[in-house]
Amino acid sequence: MNNAIPAAIEQVLLDERTIARRVSELAAQISADYAGLDDLVLIGVLKGAFIFLADLARQLTVPHHVDFIALSSYNKGTASSGAVRLIMDTRSSVTGRNVLIVEDILDTGYTLDYLLRIFRARNPASLRTCVLLSKPARRRVEVQVDYLGFEIPDVWVVGYGLDYADLFRTLPYIGALRKEVYTRG
Ligand code: IMP
Ligand code: MG
Repeated sequence: MNNAIPAAIEQVLLDERTIARRVSELAAQISADYAGLDDLVLIGVLKGAFIFLADLARQLTVPHHVDFIALSSYNKGTASSGAVRLIMDTRSSVTGRNVLIVEDILDTGYTLDYLLRIFRARNPASLRTCVLLSKPARRRVEVQVDYLGFEIPDVWVVGYGLDYADLFRTLPYIGALRKEVYTRG
């Protein structure tokens, strides 16, 4: 096992312990808010949220279901294509249930805005969002975030589920990618 930080990583922004501590706080807050409510369903946004969702869900003290949705808003790397594309819908219906969308990162806001609109149209009992990271400087559309992990500067981050061209997802920390790696021309 090679634990060296890859050369493409400029800096570790959030280390394992910092992430773990914040995820525990979020889980405690969500558990308190949903205590006594029936039928909570966490909807993880693939692929980026898979590690965050796994850590968060295992610390919830309220009963919950887990489902996933897959979207794409980026072609490859960091170049935004603008449009959000639904690649895979949830397995179960969300109508009448308490839906919590679990997302890795809020950048322009287009992805979460799109998700909120499609889920709202399905008439859930309630609809909230839990987002690990937010880059406020990049926001193009205001979007409702009920549970937020961290605000970060406008840099491309990888690790803890987040990728660059599908790489670096399983780094245990969140690191900023070197600008040379993601700025081409
Ligand atoms: P938005 O629609 O611009 O808010 O983009 C949200 C999506 O873009 C996230 O779900 C990520 O998949 C991706 N994304 C945005 N910024 C980053 C980043 O710094 N690292 C990895 N993925 C990112
Ligand atoms: Mg994502």
